[in-house]
Amino acid sequence: MKNLIIYYSRKGENYFNGKICSIPKGNTEIVAEFIQQAVGGDLFKVDTVKPYADNYTACIEQAKLELQSQARPELKKYLTDISAYDHIFVCGPCWWGTFPMAIFSQLEKLDFSGKKVMALMTHEGSGLGNCERDLKKYCPGATLGTGLAIQGAHAQSSRNQVVTWAKSQING
Ligand SMILES: Cc1cc2nc3c(=O)[nH]c(=O)nc-3n(C[C@H](O)[C@H](O)[C@H](O)COP(=O)(O)O)c2cc1C
Repeated sequence: MKNLIIYYSRKGENYFNGKICSIPKGNTEIVAEFIQQAVGGDLFKVDTVKPYADNYTACIEQAKLELQSQARPELKKYLTDISAYDHIFVCGPCWWGTFPMAIFSQLEKLDFSGKKVMALMTHEGSGLGNCERDLKKYCPGATLGTGLAIQGAHAQSSRNQVVTWAKSQING
């Protein structure tokens, strides 16, 4: 049984417990690495050709427009074949209630028939938002496992929770 961890994460200015701070590594990246350490498998980082603004407020506006227009930003590279994998963790920040559109740029290119897909979302209060509804839509044919929401400011200290969850999903 092989695992794949697809994630998007943005470093730079972000919102932590009510304050804007600059972080060297994105919250979701920290958590995606915990999943890999817990259950093994391949990590795939979703990376856009056009970078998002480092400035938090500018990025918020970009993300809003992309959601409204259902944009599919171009990625630097794409996974094309996931037939070797059984379990696929899709991890990303909550941007206006769902994953960044760049994650859907990737998901729409893949055949999810027979796969088990799990959502992990980092957020500042919205929890999983609408991301599981959207995974159902963009991963047709997949079975959805139980999702996990981690508050971004708690990413570093979430290791035990993430490990327990990831193991339960691949054994369930
Ligand atoms: C463009 C943008 C939109 C966001 N929208 C939400 C939101 O709707 N709900 C929420 O709880 N947090 C929201 N946040 C906060 C992020 O989800 C949170 O900081 C997350 O942990 C960032 O993950 P990252 O460091 O991996 O990119 C938003 C952040 C950004 C940059």
